[in-house]
Amino acid sequence: MSSDDALKRIKNKPLPRHIAVIMDGNGRWAKKRGLPRLFGHRAGTQSVREAVKVCGELGIEVLTLYAFSTENWVRPKTEVNALMGLLSKMLSSEISELDKNNVRLMTVGRTHELPPKVQDDLRKGIEKLKHNTGLTLNLALNYGGRQEIVDAIKKIQKLGIKNIDEKNFSDYLYTAGLPDPDLMIRTSGEMRLSNFLLYQLAYAELYVTETLWPDFRREHLYKAVEEYQKRERRFGGT
Ligand code: FPP
Repeated sequence: MSSDDALKRIKNKPLPRHIAVIMDGNGRWAKKRGLPRLFGHRAGTQSVREAVKVCGELGIEVLTLYAFSTENWVRPKTEVNALMGLLSKMLSSEISELDKNNVRLMTVGRTHELPPKVQDDLRKGIEKLKHNTGLTLNLALNYGGRQEIVDAIKKIQKLGIKNIDEKNFSDYLYTAGLPDPDLMIRTSGEMRLSNFLLYQLAYAELYVTETLWPDFRREHLYKAVEEYQKRERRFGGT
């Protein structure tokens, strides 16, 4: 089956508005090749590029990528620094390409705790792409789902808001204004949520693939979307 056939089938059925991805397996990819973990992360940036491109082509509204969790700080300092370096590098080298593809950029997470250089690169990137109208690329950085819920509650308390319900609670999450993810993809086979978008994933379809993130390509994304399109979404109804 060619990838064009898959594309035709996908385009004929309802697409997810928001896809969220736990990009896992960079370390294992590198280990399999006898390389340092950083090489896995570096290879993973190619998968990021491809996922952004394909989501843009499909007309997906939001792609959220779990790039750095609040738990990732316990990794060796060299690895954390390398990840931050990669992020900065990508932000400067990819911005024009993202702009060409009409992509907007946003972040979720406690980004004020990231290194100042990364914060600065993010601010510049967000500013440069803010008028675009295509895919929203949402990077989860220093992100934790529980922390997000706590931060929302603190915001609500500070504002003195009393009439909170399930609908307007979302307005105080980092993802305010975004549709909830319809499809959550996790690579490299782990069956865990890992503190990712805990509130927003309530009704998402979950898709776990054994493919390691650096190997994740267009055809893997098509497969995940096709799998999503086969599911019957009932949202608790019949
Ligand atoms: C998980 O693999 C991956 C990460 C913690 C980082 C993801 C980062 C990238 C793909 C590169 C930069 C991304 C952007 C958006 C610029 P792991 O290290 O946990 O792999 P393992 O489970 O095999 O050890």
